[in-house]
Amino acid sequence: MTRVFSGIRPSGRLHLGNYLGAIKNWITLQEKHDCIYAIVDYHAITTPFSPEELRENVREVALDYLAVGLDPKRATLIVQSQVPEHVELGWIFQSISPVSWFERVPTYKEKIVQHPEYVNLGLLAYPALMAADILIYKADLVPVGEDQLPHIELTNMIARRFNRMFASPSRHSERSEESRGSRDGILRRSTPQDDSTGFFPPVKAELTHGARIMSLKDPKKKMSKTGDEGVALSDSSDEVRQKIKTAVTDSGREIKSGNDKPALTNLLTIYSEVSGLPISKLEKQYAGKGYAEFKAGLAEAVVKFLEPIQKRRRELEKKKGYVEEVLDAGSKKARPIAQKTLEEVKKKMGLT
Ligand code: TYM
Repeated sequence: MTRVFSGIRPSGRLHLGNYLGAIKNWITLQEKHDCIYAIVDYHAITTPFSPEELRENVREVALDYLAVGLDPKRATLIVQSQVPEHVELGWIFQSISPVSWFERVPTYKEKIVQHPEYVNLGLLAYPALMAADILIYKADLVPVGEDQLPHIELTNMIARRFNRMFASPSRHSERSEESRGSRDGILRRSTPQDDSTGFFPPVKAELTHGARIMSLKDPKKKMSKTGDEGVALSDSSDEVRQKIKTAVTDSGREIKSGNDKPALTNLLTIYSEVSGLPISKLEKQYAGKGYAEFKAGLAEAVVKFLEPIQKRRRELEKKKGYVEEVLDAGSKKARPIAQKTLEEVKKKMGLT
C-alpha cells in the first residue's frame, strides 16, 4: 500500500494556502492510502515562538485538521515531538550531509532575511529533520505546496546518499564517486534502478491545482500565517469580507488572469478553487463589472466554503479531550514504525 506523509508547522492557524496547496490532497489521499499527517512542532521552534502560543497552535492546527475532514479512522494524525525518533534520524541525516546542500535552500535564505536576529542551526538543518519525518516512514508520496519542492529534492538526495553509504552492496564506491563529483561533494543523480532498490525509497511530491496561493497584500509573496496576508480557515465571515475587500488588485479594471495581473490571477484562483467554477467562467461572469462586485462575490464564495468547516470546528471544540485523544492514539500508532526504521538505520551504521 502506498504510504503518504505530510506535515504542517504549528506557527499559526491554517489558511486557505495550506488548504488549497496541500490539505485538499491529504483528504483525497486518505481514502485509498496509508496516510500519516503530522503537526511538526520541532520545526516550529526554528523561528521565533512563545511556549504558550506553540501549545495553543498545536491544538488549533489539530482542530483545523479534523474540521476540514481528516478522519482519524483513516489517517494517522501525529505530533512530531511525540515521536522523538524523527529527531534522532534527523541528527543522523545532518551528520552525513554537506552543509552546502542546506545553505542554498530557498526557505533558509528567506527566513534569515525575515528573522535576522534568529538565525540558528536548527533553521539551517530544517530540511534534514523534514527528510527524517518522511523517510522514517519510508513514505512514497508527500502532498505539499510548490514551496516545499526544494525540500523534497533534498530528501531524495539525503536518501540516495544514505543508501549509497550504508545500504547498497557497492557502497565502497561512495568515496570515489564523491571525489569525481562536484566541488562541494553533492552526489550525482543515481539511476532510477539505484533509487528503487535502496533502503530508503524515492519520494514523490504530490501537488494540487492551487499549489501556490499568494498573499492578499502582495501577490509576489506566498500566503502565510501572519497578519492579514491570508484568510485563516477559522476567520469569521466579517474578517473574510474585510480581508478580501482590502486585498490588493492590479492596475486597470478588467477581471482577468494573466502574467501581467498577478493579484487578480491569485484572487481568481482562490475563487475558482472554493466555488468549483473554472477561471474562464468567472472571467465571463465578471466581464465589464468592477473590482468591488468581483471582490464581494469572491468574499461570499469563501464564506460559503468555510461555513461547514467552521460548523464542524465548533462541534469539535465542545468535545473535551477529543483532540488530545486523537493525537495521542496517532502518535502511539506511528511510533513503532519509526522505531523499526531507526533501529535498522542504526544497525547499518554500526550504532548499536
Ligand atoms: P508549512 O507549515 O509552511 O505549510 C504547510 C503546507 O501548506 C503548503 N502551503 C501553501 N501551499 C500553497 N500556497 C501557499 N501560500 C502555501 N503556504 C503553505 C506548504 O507547501 C505545505 O505543504 N516544511 C513544511 C512542514 C514539514 C513537512 C514535513 C511537510 C515538515 N516536515 C514533511 C511535508 C513532509 C512547512 O514548513 O510547511
